[in-house]
Amino acid sequence: MVGLILVTGGAGFIGSHLVDTLLIAGYDVRVLDDFSTGKKENLRGAEALAAAHGGHFQLIAGDVRSEFKMRDAVDGCAAVCHLAAVASVTQSLADPVDTGSVTHGGTVNAVRMAVDAGVPRFVLASSCAVYGDAAQQPVVETSAPQPLSPYAEAKLAAEQTCAAAADAAQLAAVCLRFFNVYGPRQDPGSEYSGVISRFMAAAAAGAPVTVYGDGHQTRDFVYVGDVVDAILRAVQRPLSGVSVLNVGSGAPTSVLDVLGRLEELVGGPVPRRFAGARAGDIRDSRADAGRARWVLGWEPGETFAGGLEQTWAWYRERPVEPAAPGAPAAPGRSPHV
Ligand SMILES: NC(=O)c1ccc[n+]([C@@H]2O[C@H](COP(=O)([O-])OP(=O)(O)OC[C@H]3O[C@@H](n4cnc5c(N)ncnc54)[C@H](O)[C@@H]3O)[C@@H](O)[C@H]2O)c1
Repeated sequence: MVGLILVTGGAGFIGSHLVDTLLIAGYDVRVLDDFSTGKKENLRGAEALAAAHGGHFQLIAGDVRSEFKMRDAVDGCAAVCHLAAVASVTQSLADPVDTGSVTHGGTVNAVRMAVDAGVPRFVLASSCAVYGDAAQQPVVETSAPQPLSPYAEAKLAAEQTCAAAADAAQLAAVCLRFFNVYGPRQDPGSEYSGVISRFMAAAAAGAPVTVYGDGHQTRDFVYVGDVVDAILRAVQRPLSGVSVLNVGSGAPTSVLDVLGRLEELVGGPVPRRFAGARAGDIRDSRADAGRARWVLGWEPGETFAGGLEQTWAWYRERPVEPAAPGAPAAPGRSPHV
């Protein structure tokens, strides 16, 4: 299938990688983004990629809650990849109303406009945060959701909006629950950014990294290229109804493991300081991605070593002083975005 794809949040970390991949695959791509966290520089290569692969690239600056902007954005699309959200648990705790409005309200608007325009496929960027502190690891999609932050609540509500439209046979919806995504272009700017982006930015700047707690807590890190591959398959596969799928590597990696591997890449010790565990940080998180394998034929293709190498190659060119520790701890229980 070739056609026009709308990527909301296309100027962000994951969205901009998706835009590049879609253009290389020969799609026409339209981005709707308000640049609240996304950056124009992430889309710097889009026009050239479109020209090289015979496609078109269009950028619409606007808010996903705007009916007017969204109506224009979905017009003529074969699929909507809806990534725009307040993608931060901490931000959601600070401003739950805005988070609900953007992350859930924006999805309601996007689904409604997509249905009105006859768009057959809707892919939602959801999150493992919907599981909260699940007792059983790895988590499967049938685990009862326990959203523990306004961010997680909004993602779960967004999934339900997609499911309702799919149940009414208005479109096919795929809700992808991303685990801890990492890779080039991830913003390391806050104390609550993904641990890999924070560690790499600090190491590139020659600054110490901050480890919260004992560092033995584990996460399921999945490379951005693999996440984009899952989204592409969710656009292309013949599907109907709603599919809710975990997108994670399935491998538990501790924070200290990440640091050890970073030291190998840097070629020497990375100075570290330990700070108290952040209130409510969960201990372990790991995906069972069997359903994504079954439904999408998806497997994470990148090794952790290979993904880290590509990520480090990017960060070492862009040293950024890391956020200082000591900002108020997040009261929510999920570290995931
Ligand atoms: N990065 C992860 O580890 C991770 C994990 C789980 C889920 N997700 C989800 O994946 C999606 C992309 O995340 P990301 O890490 O690339 O974050 P990001 O902040 O880099 O991207 C979000 C994009 O949405 C845009 N945006 C925000 N509010 C908007 C609005 N009202 N109107 C239009 N555009 C708006 C931002 O400007 C940005 O470009 C999000 O939905 C996030 O919740 C990410």
